[in-house]
Amino acid sequence: MSDFNLPEPSPDPLLDLIGRYRADSRAHKIDLGVGVYRNDKGDTPVLAAVKTAEAILLEQQESKSYLGLTGDTEFVKLLGNLIFSKPGSNEPLSASNKFLSGAQTPGGSGALRVASELFCAIRPSATLWVGVPTWPNHLPLTQAAGLKTQCYDAFCKDTQTILFDAMVKALSTAQSGDGVLIHGCCHNPTGADLSVEQIQTLCQLMNDKGLMPVVDLAYHGLGEGLQQDLQATREIVQQCPHTLIAASCSKNFGLYRDRVGAVFITTGDQKRADNTQAYFGHIARRIYSMPPDHGAATVRLILSDETLKQQWLAELDTMVSRVKALRNAIAKQQPGLDFVSRQRGMFSLLPLNSQQVDSLINDHAVYLAGDGRINIAGCQLDQVEQFCNALSEVGFNGLR
Ligand code: LMR
Repeated sequence: MSDFNLPEPSPDPLLDLIGRYRADSRAHKIDLGVGVYRNDKGDTPVLAAVKTAEAILLEQQESKSYLGLTGDTEFVKLLGNLIFSKPGSNEPLSASNKFLSGAQTPGGSGALRVASELFCAIRPSATLWVGVPTWPNHLPLTQAAGLKTQCYDAFCKDTQTILFDAMVKALSTAQSGDGVLIHGCCHNPTGADLSVEQIQTLCQLMNDKGLMPVVDLAYHGLGEGLQQDLQATREIVQQCPHTLIAASCSKNFGLYRDRVGAVFITTGDQKRADNTQAYFGHIARRIYSMPPDHGAATVRLILSDETLKQQWLAELDTMVSRVKALRNAIAKQQPGLDFVSRQRGMFSLLPLNSQQVDSLINDHAVYLAGDGRINIAGCQLDQVEQFCNALSEVGFNGLR
């Protein structure tokens, strides 16, 4: 066999930080890198509701035989109800002339990949419009599925403002049939979410131009609370004829390594919903065949048992309260960082240059992404002062 050479892949900018942080022996190190929630002890424990559900699963599960290409259909149904049905009403979407189909996927990334492949199949020559900055894997992941992408500026780091007019201007040049990537809530990396009015304007624009929203929903429950965090997604689904949604259970169920997610599409008729449902399976078969079961079965047990569900919701409330308290503490410690308290979810994007980021990591043991993104949930309340002092020492005192 002849030899072969591969190009050295560039390290993933976020995942690379995990190894670097672990290898650092400084006791005062702070991990604001990868988007993982930490509690007030700095741990990412298995949630109590998850532990209980896993014990039930261990006891009850009698087979690990294949389930099928779209995974655990009851999990998909329950997750769909949680995301799309308003509280108190478990009314299926079809009651509002929207039909939902969905499939379990390996995490939110798997859902994005399947969504991208479906979008390519629906609109082979269409472009996906992506506001930047965005999650660094959005472009490689969607492009690997065959999508053409077009970026536009959607946020100004220096003023910490959403460039909504620029967004509208860019999307006004999109072609009918193009897609628009939208962060459902807790924007990654900026923490700056569109207002309800902006979402409505965006929906109007997408409908006028014939554009399809593709919603990435990864942090619901970690911004203002579950119901509020789902508002934008529900609004888009109601307003637009077809919406693709990639949902993750990594963060809000703390099931990161178990890879739990689902892809959904809302359409206007049952026939199309059934057809897309089958197509999700067709796509999955060509990539991974079937999603892993354990995490999705765990979520199914939680969502189907009112006591476990309430326990999980209470744990989620603890998480969001901690993130909000940290945001407020950072703003109080350094008034120039006041904007942090107005942003949502785990991330904010600080206007730091690469020398400042390097110095924070190397000289101050504060780990953060190269673009200046910080994972607020990685900080401890008693580290806030140290963090703000480190920012000052690299010459960043917030906005003036
Ligand atoms: C992040 O943005 O840090 C997380 O979504 C982890 C990842 O896969 O990049």
